[in-house]
Amino acid sequence: APITVKKICCIGAGYVGGPTCAVIALKCPNIQVTIVDLNQARIDAWNSDNLPIYEPGLDEVVKTARGKNLFFSTDVDKAIAEADLIFVSVNTPTKKSGVGAGYAADLNFLQRATRRIAEVSTSSKIVVEKSTVPCRTADAMRTILEANSKPGCRFDILSNPEFLAEGTAISDLFAPDRVLIGSLQTESGKDACAALANVYANWVPRDRILTVGLWSSELTKLAANAMLAQRISSVNALSAICEATGANIDEVAFAVGKDSRVGAKFLKASVGFGGSCFQKDILNLVYLSESLHLPEVAKYWKAVVDMNEYQKDRFSRKVVDTLFNTITGKKIAILGWAFKKDTGDTRESPSISICNHFLSEKARVNVYDPQVTEEQIWLDLDETSTNEVDHKQHVSISKSAIEACKDAEAIVICTEWDEFKTLDWAKIYEACPRPAFVFDGRLMLNRAELQQIGFKVVTIGSGDV
Ligand code: UDX
Ligand code: UDX
Ligand code: ADP
Repeated sequence: APITVKKICCIGAGYVGGPTCAVIALKCPNIQVTIVDLNQARIDAWNSDNLPIYEPGLDEVVKTARGKNLFFSTDVDKAIAEADLIFVSVNTPTKKSGVGAGYAADLNFLQRATRRIAEVSTSSKIVVEKSTVPCRTADAMRTILEANSKPGCRFDILSNPEFLAEGTAISDLFAPDRVLIGSLQTESGKDACAALANVYANWVPRDRILTVGLWSSELTKLAANAMLAQRISSVNALSAICEATGANIDEVAFAVGKDSRVGAKFLKASVGFGGSCFQKDILNLVYLSESLHLPEVAKYWKAVVDMNEYQKDRFSRKVVDTLFNTITGKKIAILGWAFKKDTGDTRESPSISICNHFLSEKARVNVYDPQVTEEQIWLDLDETSTNEVDHKQHVSISKSAIEACKDAEAIVICTEWDEFKTLDWAKIYEACPRPAFVFDGRLMLNRAELQQIGFKVVTIGSGDV
């Protein structure tokens, strides 16, 4: 029979583990939740008024539960030893070297955490794989745990992928489309699955809690992200046709989305998708397909990422072309550095590639983002620098959009922050040399209004009007 979970430990206090387990604590007052991390600064931040991640609604959740049944700590071993259920929610970046470099997931952090569980545990545990990982990782975790476990100490492995999106993490967690739990189809596997399902049932309707086999669960996470990203690449591919023909991508996407078989969501053309998941998960799927000797399948999914690279590059080139084929020495404002609005996260943000493109053309770039710290922007540029141009010399970071746009020959919208809609565009126009260009990479501004002011407006996915 399934056990009743009383103590949960979450290893990894990042974007996934932090919000997910904070919401579990809030919704399950009878369960004690301890979130642990090796990174002391991160844990200190979780224990302060200044949380390490920006997510609407998160502050309130943490404030309500922290100190009652929600704890943040660096004492990983103690939390493991006490827990009956452990979420493993550590980072799984793309491998930078060795076999599968650039494609395969680096499972080093995951394996270290798993080994720690094996070493420290003196009682049975349900171990839940929460990080996005390639298929069959749960099996590897099981092998490690079983090879290192002590007598009387059994481990059941579950896969419970997280589908929350950044910026809406809390509302996604409060009302998920579905919760997916994968387990071995053995007696004890099913019991473990039921124990975790009972935790979610505190607030998620039963018919939204799906229980499947371990491999299906692991593959679903990669498949969901690949299919979401594929929609964006499809619409972005169409946006190029629109620009060349005078069709309008918003009109096309809206009309296509009205077909209930297609659906209306996730069809917004853009400068390209970013974020820590899409590219990483697709490249994982590509690597997996190749390892399984399915080159046609690998090629199919790889095209989604290729199209995304093309879109970022195409948009950057469009800016240069429009500014009479040179931006050398010209001042360009980039509005938005986060990979989408309502997050301070910049991982794989299209802004980074676009900025680097402008730098390679020797432009002077002014960046503004309402949530991303100055330090993070420099870090992103340091990491991606080709050393062709000294970005410290050519980039400056502004405290407001107005300041970033001053004297700019082109204003380039990369992130769809709401505040860009209500800027005093007339005032901005006053401070720009003529002709003044706005490049709307998110199709978010009122083109007619900007044109009325005097701007030349170029958008993704529509010809000149
Ligand atoms: C994604 C998945 O949505 C989520 O289910 C999974 O758990 C993690 O990966 P996230 O990366 O946080 O979440 O953000 P998402 O809203 O999916 O956006 C990803 C990127 O696609 C962003 O750069 C966004 O701007 C872009 N996007 C999204 C578009 O360009 N057009 C769209 O229509 C939707
Ligand atoms: C299609 C479009 O649905 C319709 O809107 C358009 O006007 C004409 O083309 P049709 O070709 O009649 O209609 O059939 P449809 O039901 O769309 O199926 C097309 C093919 O896809 C069939 O071979 C069908 O078996 C296959 N299919 C459909 C799948 O393999 N899987 C699915 O989930 C759906
Ligand atoms: P994600 O987006 O998947 O949540 P993050 O990088 O935001 O990824 O968070 C993962 C966290 O896991 C990091 O804060 C990292 O310090 C932590 N971590 C990695 N390995 C371990 C480990 N063995 N024990 C505890 N914490 C770990």
